[in-house]
Amino acid sequence: MPTEFPSHQWKDYELLDSGGGMKLERFGGYTLARPEPKALWDKEMTDKEWDSLTHVRFTPGAGFGKAGKEDSGTWDRLKAMSDQWWIGYRLANAGRASFSMRLGLTSFKHVGVFPEQAPNWEYIFRETSAIAAASRERPKVLNLFAYTGAASLAAKSAGADVTHLDSVRQVVTWARENQERSGLDGIRWVVEDAMKFVRREARRGNVYQGIILDPPAYGHGPDGEKWKLDECLFEMMRNVGNILAPENSFMVLNLYSNGFSAALGETVTRQALDLTASTELDSGELALEDRFGKVLPLSIFVRLRR
Ligand SMILES: C[S@@+](CC[C@H](N)C(=O)[O-])C[C@H]1O[C@@H](n2cnc3c(N)ncnc32)[C@H](O)[C@@H]1O
Repeated sequence: MPTEFPSHQWKDYELLDSGGGMKLERFGGYTLARPEPKALWDKEMTDKEWDSLTHVRFTPGAGFGKAGKEDSGTWDRLKAMSDQWWIGYRLANAGRASFSMRLGLTSFKHVGVFPEQAPNWEYIFRETSAIAAASRERPKVLNLFAYTGAASLAAKSAGADVTHLDSVRQVVTWARENQERSGLDGIRWVVEDAMKFVRREARRGNVYQGIILDPPAYGHGPDGEKWKLDECLFEMMRNVGNILAPENSFMVLNLYSNGFSAALGETVTRQALDLTASTELDSGELALEDRFGKVLPLSIFVRLRR
């Protein structure tokens, strides 16, 4: 099972060190220290070295780790920095194609981009480009649980008609800013419950050549619809199977939560999409490697190309 990493060519991101339940990362010109429960080992650099590099450190609040408040806390500035800044990402083998992402310090320790996802962006760009080259029409790509939209921008850069769906209006506005700054346009923005949307698309017989999904452990739709990964994933994947074109299409499932393994992701995908044993799935882990060679696995992926 392969482990994939962002390319070392990506100048705007670097995992400097990890350990003691923390990670130290540079995003463009700023360095952030954030909790990372999976960093079970020791830091390589001293606390003094971490502090000398850090612009801002996230300190978990009282509710940290508890349901509904998993990632809550505050940011403490050690050096002057902006609240919001931009980084770029250049797609490999894509001429000059690149996109921009705004970063911000949110109250939930996230900054607006999950850098370990870069190999998925590359895959989405490659597959969308290949499908676009092989057909007369622009491929339709659906990005579910799409957050600030890096995957949407990768598909758009490859010439797709992209539908970007998330239940939170503010993150869709954020994704829109990223599109604008990237010099792209035409993404279709949808603020809706992901399950409701895919059920309706299946009823209407709409199909997509590419479907990307990165569902969280818990979430909710704009009207309070409950999303619980354990209970909803299989039905979601069945609906995905109903709206994914039977050929000349691709699917990317990414999972961070519940300790789900790549093998579990493969079985869910195989069963939900009724794939024969001979259909090849590509699955593995997405990870970051710090300067000292310590590998920090963060999510699993399952990819289908047919
Ligand atoms: C783990 S994030 C996705 C990260 C993103 N793919 C990336 O790498 O940048 C999960 C997203 O799902 C959204 N979400 C949660 N529940 C949802 C629901 N029921 N319907 C649609 N989106 C939902 C959240 O607002 C959040 O943006």
